[in-house]
Amino acid sequence: MKVRPPLVHRLFYPQVPLVLAAEYRGRISAMPVVSYSSVSDVPPLVAVSCSPRGFTCKLVLKAREFSLSILQSNQAGAMSHLARVSGAKVTDKLSEAGLKHTTGKKLGVPVITGAEASLECALRSSRNYGDHTMLVGEVEAASASDAFGEFWDFTKYKPLLYTGWRGGLTTYPGPQA
Ligand SMILES: Cc1cc2nc3c(=O)[nH]c(=O)nc-3n(C[C@H](O)[C@H](O)[C@H](O)COP(=O)(O)O)c2cc1C
Repeated sequence: MKVRPPLVHRLFYPQVPLVLAAEYRGRISAMPVVSYSSVSDVPPLVAVSCSPRGFTCKLVLKAREFSLSILQSNQAGAMSHLARVSGAKVTDKLSEAGLKHTTGKKLGVPVITGAEASLECALRSSRNYGDHTMLVGEVEAASASDAFGEFWDFTKYKPLLYTGWRGGLTTYPGPQA
């Protein structure tokens, strides 16, 4: 079957969605992202591709820093909420989605309470590619739950998986016993 260009990214599903979040002058916004990658270990650089029309993307460009969080499977409802509501309409989109948060240890970014893992990133570059903006951040701090040693323990961590709007969010059940 021939795949139309706008559908190509769906070939990558299922993917683990992250929450991209930023704070600027008291305004907090966040959005689910699956277009992300680790691009360098030394220095630790990560990239996220976001639509410049999205409020969160605009806030990251102003704040020059952002966080990335991996949510727990019981936070799936909040993840869906973040995709449906625009940060332009609320002062604190994370709280509005029911996600408590604190300020990062190294940077002034929102870090989601109870997240499975969180990264604090300083924006090093941004560049437009087609209809998206690639944000490249240097990881200034990272933390994870005790489900992570040197690898994830999938008996403790049940990743959320995004399969597309029709399938919504599901979870990886972990290794077969
Ligand atoms: C699981 C999931 C992953 C998404 N990944 C991306 C992404 O990588 N880049 C992007 O621009 N939008 C992505 N979106 C869409 C945004 O999250 C959505 O447009 C959001 O409402 C933007 O909110 P904002 O305007 O408050 O920033 C994704 C949506 C979902 C549900």
